[in-house]
Amino acid sequence: MKDRVVSGYRPSGRLHLGHYHGNLKTMTRLQETHDCYFFVADWHALTTDYRDTSMLGAFTTEMVLDWLAAGLDPEKCTVYRQSDIESIPELVLYFSMITTLGELERCPTYKEQLRELDSRGVNTYGFLGYPVLMATDILIVDAELVPVGEDQLPHLEMTREIARRFNSLYGPTFPEPKPILSPASKIPGTDGRKMSKSYDNDIRLDDEPGEILRKVRRMITDPARVRRQDRGHPNVCSVFQLIKAYPEVDPVKRSGECKEALIGCTDCKDEIAGIIADDMEGLRSRRAELAGNPGVVGEILESGAAVVRPIAEEILGLARDAMSIGTL
Ligand code: TRP
Ligand code: SF4
Repeated sequence: MKDRVVSGYRPSGRLHLGHYHGNLKTMTRLQETHDCYFFVADWHALTTDYRDTSMLGAFTTEMVLDWLAAGLDPEKCTVYRQSDIESIPELVLYFSMITTLGELERCPTYKEQLRELDSRGVNTYGFLGYPVLMATDILIVDAELVPVGEDQLPHLEMTREIARRFNSLYGPTFPEPKPILSPASKIPGTDGRKMSKSYDNDIRLDDEPGEILRKVRRMITDPARVRRQDRGHPNVCSVFQLIKAYPEVDPVKRSGECKEALIGCTDCKDEIAGIIADDMEGLRSRRAELAGNPGVVGEILESGAAVVRPIAEEILGLARDAMSIGTL
């Protein structure tokens, strides 16, 4: 029996290089060795973006197309949508009974996002309860391992706490899942901040070569390097960070060339833009091919749900029995 792995992404539309070099490569690797369940966390999207839900479907389609183009293979892993699994909300209800407000309010992402997203009106019951929903996603498929970024570790700790509490109250029912920490993506956005769609500084997986070149050319380099003959400082240059994510350019050599002013920033940028475009070429053509078949995402989510529903129903049944729900 292979260990079971679960991970979810909020449907945010098209994915970018930060996703790719962070979690997505880990996921494509894990599907070769583990029993993997990867889902579109559309209910999670509602915890912060409940006002305008009109893009949920389109964002789900775009994201699943990117997953497939990047190498997730529905023959090797189960791809599904959270909202197709009707047993989840019932288990959320039971877990919500045994989770205290204090625990939820202490969650670091809760405090942080409440501050940052204040204008979006996230001071809701659903947003506070987000970690309970996440715990349910994980426990309802009986997963042992969860590949996540560092920011998600507190949620995973809460998942373990919820499992422990349930087990001690009602008898051993759930395993305590462990994280697989994905390497933090070191890919900077085109403005030097963390790459993020909401900062509008991302290079998307399906950007055309011309678009990639335009974005890379716009990037800030070493501010002290004004003229071509000025010596550069690669360690303060975000283009250099990008270079380090690709094996095609030797970073030691490039660092030397930059410091000695043997290469100009435009040439340096054009080279890495070309490398990224080449690296993404296969992905882009696979994506175009997939997108030409409009039913493909629906079919994949449908068969994924058919695999997950019975598993989730069974686990929910165990939880109900343990809690003596529905008995006389
Ligand atoms: N909370 C995760 C995020 O915002 C998404 C997510 C929801 C998730 N449920 C999950 C990740 C279960 C791993 C396992 O990125
Ligand atoms: Fe950055 Fe390359 Fe210019 Fe050096 S040559 S400052 S690494 S863009």
